[in-house]
Amino acid sequence: MPDTAITDLDALESRISADIAAAADLAALDAIRVSALGKKGEVSLKMRELGKMSPEERQTMGPALNGLRDRLNTALEARKASLEDDALNLALARETVDVTRPAAHRRPGKLHPVSQVMEELAVIFADMGFKVAEGPDVEDDFHNFTALNFPPDHPARDTHDTFFMEAADGDTPKVLRTHTSPVQIRTMMSEQPPIRIIAPGRVYRCDWDQTHTPMFHQVEGLVIDKETHMGHLKGCLEQFVAAFFETSDVEARFRPHHFPFTEPSAEMDVRYERVGDAVKVGSGDKWMEILGCGMVHPNVIEACGLDPEEYQGFAFGMGVDRLAMLKYGMSDLRPFFEPDTRWSAHYGFSPLLQANLATGLS
Ligand code: PHE
Repeated sequence: MPDTAITDLDALESRISADIAAAADLAALDAIRVSALGKKGEVSLKMRELGKMSPEERQTMGPALNGLRDRLNTALEARKASLEDDALNLALARETVDVTRPAAHRRPGKLHPVSQVMEELAVIFADMGFKVAEGPDVEDDFHNFTALNFPPDHPARDTHDTFFMEAADGDTPKVLRTHTSPVQIRTMMSEQPPIRIIAPGRVYRCDWDQTHTPMFHQVEGLVIDKETHMGHLKGCLEQFVAAFFETSDVEARFRPHHFPFTEPSAEMDVRYERVGDAVKVGSGDKWMEILGCGMVHPNVIEACGLDPEEYQGFAFGMGVDRLAMLKYGMSDLRPFFEPDTRWSAHYGFSPLLQANLATGLS
């Protein structure tokens, strides 16, 4: 008797397996699953009969039925995965883009003013011997604050309106970098002086009004050498302002300031006025702060493993977006980061005209 029962099971298995292999879509496959393994499915009903069998019968039929159920489940899963693959491939095939098709509109893209200004900054500072360095947007407390001489729990950490990330297990919370100054630390810890770098990139602070957005751009500058002094800093920045605004008429002023990582520190403002909706540099009675700077604090040099008795230097950090506003006359920062193609068509730059010092920056 068990022998015929086993033969029946073999027939059942081949029938259901053939059905599974032939299932045309996920709905058909699910119907097969229900009719075989569902509550009232053929296999389930047979399993229910186990209770009525003699112990000897149960000893052969139990494992046989379990094995059948497991093999059918495996076959169902495999067929399901392959049907899902087919569906995905079909969708992908339907959605292919013919990249050789000619453009429908003659509307070439424009370079964002921030990209343009970054390009211009790299060109100006490369001419003064600076190379470009980079660091991550997600920073740790050490590089963003501690090594930059922010004491623990110092209120200066709050004035940065820092976005703190949730801490991973056993780790201190990471931050979205509030300035590009952590690249100073990364550079001093990985390179030997003399150092001359600029570090462009995104920075983040929780702030939102006409001249502040939660993500904006800075360029950091760092020079570390044996005899660098404040005069070099001022000369370098004045040369930069003249080159960037492509005129010698720009008036810049230095104001004493405080940063934990520089001593002495200053902020530099540029004279400007509003003409209608636009912004014009060089005249007027308003000043826009464009950068912070100073001589690198000995504690910072020491935190990076260099000897402050031997090395010194200067650093500066400037707002790229503000520079773009001043140079190209926008009065509101917020549309920089809104997806309005009318704005980019108006303020954008031709991607084919690269900034260079020989033929003019812009
Ligand atoms: N990191 C400062 C800021 O974001 C700018 C700065 C950079 C000041 C380097 C001094 C030196 O405001």
